[in-house]
Amino acid sequence: MTDDLKHSFGFQEVDTNERRARIRALFDAIAGRYDLMNDLMSFGIHRLWKRTLARMIAQGGSGGLIIDLAGGTGDVARLVARRPGNGKVVVVDASVEMMKAGRKAHPRCAGALAWVAAEGERLPFGDDAVDVLTIAFGLRNMSDPDAALREALRVLKPGGRFYCLEFSRPQWWLKPFYDLYSFLVIPRLGAMVAGEPSAYRYLIESIRRFPGQKALTDKMRYAGFSDVRWRNLSFGIAAIHHARKAKALPRHLGAEERAAVQDMEGAA
Ligand SMILES: C[S@@+](CC[C@H](N)C(=O)[O-])C[C@H]1O[C@@H](n2cnc3c(N)ncnc32)[C@H](O)[C@@H]1O
Repeated sequence: MTDDLKHSFGFQEVDTNERRARIRALFDAIAGRYDLMNDLMSFGIHRLWKRTLARMIAQGGSGGLIIDLAGGTGDVARLVARRPGNGKVVVVDASVEMMKAGRKAHPRCAGALAWVAAEGERLPFGDDAVDVLTIAFGLRNMSDPDAALREALRVLKPGGRFYCLEFSRPQWWLKPFYDLYSFLVIPRLGAMVAGEPSAYRYLIESIRRFPGQKALTDKMRYAGFSDVRWRNLSFGIAAIHHARKAKALPRHLGAEERAAVQDMEGAA
């Protein structure tokens, strides 16, 4: 992906440190209006996507420790925590302002979740510690998305499950309308509602640079995940990729060999 993404900020080329600083500043700046903007931009559809994600996580059986990485205001974490039988849900995000906005907007739920300020590339969890790791609209915003995938794999228990909800590639017939809406309407909405048109220009540019369904699948396999699959949402505007960490693999294998072994496991 993502060597490319790691050196970008939307359509601009920047170094990774600048990318990290600009993305952090962006989310700190829009935190107070983030949820409202999501509802307006997507006509509320992001809520349906997040519910689908929470349902899929519950169907997989989700006791134990669940991390909502890049959890922002805690939308996904709240949905997951609400489902009976689910374990402890921890929101991890690099932006303290985003998490503060979520706690302020939902004071009654805030205590049911744990909130941790940390980066996806350096998670404050031990190896093989986490049962489920989910990331919604966050992988695209990581300073180094490939490193974040490897880190997710490190903290997951063998057999642990990974879910990634992200914008993806819509079907061909939808693309002209989607592009028109994205480039014409969203930055104007961002200016009117959040006072931050450039933040929303970054959003649509970063979506264009993010790998599509198949390419992200390959990246996840390369990072070492097994059983990688995806499910399209709203004709591919978004997709949920899901995978698991293999039960046990010999440590001496390289990434490509590990992916090959896991493919064989998946086929079995
Ligand atoms: C588009 S928001 C998604 C928030 C939430 N998951 C949702 O679906 O509404 C992206 C989030 O990623 C966080 N983020 C960006 N880079 C990060 C990093 N390197 N580590 C952890 N979180 C990061 C941002 O602070 C922001 O809250």
